[in-house]
Amino acid sequence: MISKEIIEDIKFRMPIEDVVSTYVRLRRGGSTLKGLCPFHSEKTPSFTVFPSTQNFYCFGCGASGDVISFIMKEENLEYPDAIRFLAAKCGVTVPDDDRPSSPDVVTRKRILEINKCAAKYFWDCLNDNELGRPGREYLRDRQLSSSTVRHFGIGYSPNSFSSLHVHLNKSGFSDREIVAANLGTISSKNGKVYDFFRGRVMFPIIDVSGNVVAFGGRVIDGSEPKYLNSSDTPAFKKSRHLFALNFARQHCQEQLILCEGYMDVISLHAAGFENAVATLGTAITPEHARIFKKYSPKCIISYDADQAGQRAAERAFQLLGDAGVDARLLKVYDAKDPDEFIKKHGAAAFRKLLDDSKPRFEFKIDTVKAKYNLNDPDDVNRAINELCAFVATVYSPVQRELYVDRIAKEFNVKKNNVLTEVESIAKRHARENKKNEASNLIMKTSGVGDRVNPDYARMPKYAKLEETVLGLMLFHNEYLETALKEGLLTEKHFQTGFNRRLFVFMKEEQERDGFEFGLLNASFSSEEISRVSYMMLQRQRLADNSESVFRQSVASLLEEYEKGVTAKEGSLEALIDSCETRKTKILRSQKGTRYERK
Ligand code: CTP
Ligand code: MN
Repeated sequence: MISKEIIEDIKFRMPIEDVVSTYVRLRRGGSTLKGLCPFHSEKTPSFTVFPSTQNFYCFGCGASGDVISFIMKEENLEYPDAIRFLAAKCGVTVPDDDRPSSPDVVTRKRILEINKCAAKYFWDCLNDNELGRPGREYLRDRQLSSSTVRHFGIGYSPNSFSSLHVHLNKSGFSDREIVAANLGTISSKNGKVYDFFRGRVMFPIIDVSGNVVAFGGRVIDGSEPKYLNSSDTPAFKKSRHLFALNFARQHCQEQLILCEGYMDVISLHAAGFENAVATLGTAITPEHARIFKKYSPKCIISYDADQAGQRAAERAFQLLGDAGVDARLLKVYDAKDPDEFIKKHGAAAFRKLLDDSKPRFEFKIDTVKAKYNLNDPDDVNRAINELCAFVATVYSPVQRELYVDRIAKEFNVKKNNVLTEVESIAKRHARENKKNEASNLIMKTSGVGDRVNPDYARMPKYAKLEETVLGLMLFHNEYLETALKEGLLTEKHFQTGFNRRLFVFMKEEQERDGFEFGLLNASFSSEEISRVSYMMLQRQRLADNSESVFRQSVASLLEEYEKGVTAKEGSLEALIDSCETRKTKILRSQKGTRYERK
């Protein structure tokens, strides 16, 4: 548990506007600051920082919270690490308290220790004259020099069910810790722990701080599966890590190279391309794309030559583009992947591939052309339509014009016709979007499809009252103190699940050490934090949030509670009623829309 004092101290020394402006360019407008949201791609700023409450809120994607939530999201850190990250920047000392919250939880710190011990063991095994021979022979066959093997810390897991496990036990790690780190598995037959990686060449996965966070292991015979990877642990999330980023981060001012496999990355580094990284047995995720954006302005996608690789490239283009990375694609020839290509054709040829890499639209033209029979006029028409549909999604008018030109030239058709087609598709998209937006808004305001607080839909009126009271207590912590001191509110007054949980959390923290928004980051997900921020924001926007308003709100909540309206509200009829009035309001508020209720 990190105390409220420390959090307050950090927040005092690190004002949110200062911290955020090291990541986002902010412009002041009145009492708030605005910028382009770092958590989704946008062209007009909807990311807002509120210095008065030390919070941020993105009106585009809903990301929000305080300075700690911001660092957790931006730096991909867990709560305690985000606190330490900020503490280190402002000279606050955080006591090294690594007590697990319950005896069953194995901490991140322990997992990193056990991984380090295992990595050392795998390394020693590889270099053991007898034990490591199969591993060394395999690596020699794959033409890895001993300096490359050393650089990546590659090791070998002996073909045994217990050697690592025995070694780790001797080094002071319990079976529970071994299993939590994914280095052992519990046998379903006898309940005993056995080694997870056996007879494999081991690639340690090292984060940018130099911690061994996980392992990938490759078989050395033809058996299956070819690769085994650690699953997620408290120290590792596949969707957030990139293999070799610990090295590549020193070489990525200009660009990063994204590969599919460990071996591609290792070969590229050995050939002097030390800016290569790979995802870890998963497709690229939006989180990965954000990491790319953080480290480099440009990315060359260098996937396998097969169909699967090319399809995956499409997704990589999309995600990297969304994150604002300038992505290009290279395609190896006469080889299935970059590893084989380098071995066959050498580094100079790969350098040429990098220089000749194509932007997304050129790649798109190639794939579309390959898909259709270009001697058939109908097929040509289809090909053009498919490209136009892509161009219609492009935001920049200049970019659009260039693409329209390119299509006209490529297929030898009139530019104007291409333009008309693009515009008509764009109009159709806009109409559909508008329709979706309206229905999303109806869903949101009526709480339908509410993942954070599913109870909202059942009793929207009551939930709103709860949120008013909670929002006021979040905005003015002293109201929480008053409410508890005077016994105005108790758990039973909060009837929807999420709001009750929030109240209980605030109450318990207040009674322990004092409540502070930053504490929420330890126990609530980022989506939940967004909801809490929204409650606070709703109050912040109002002129009068005085104590008398708070007392009135509590009184209204208690009144509703006493009336037992909650029961009536639970009925389907009430839900439909509330949806209908909301819908009417929304549709009426849309300019030019005439809405007749049937
Ligand atoms: N992968 C995996 N599990 C598998 C197969 C592949 O996790 N059963 C992941 C690994 O991260 C691997 C990547 O997908 O590095 C690419 O797979 P593949 O192209 O099959 O492997 P290569 O990297 O080419 O490996 P090698 O050259 O050793 O065959
Ligand atoms: Mn491959």
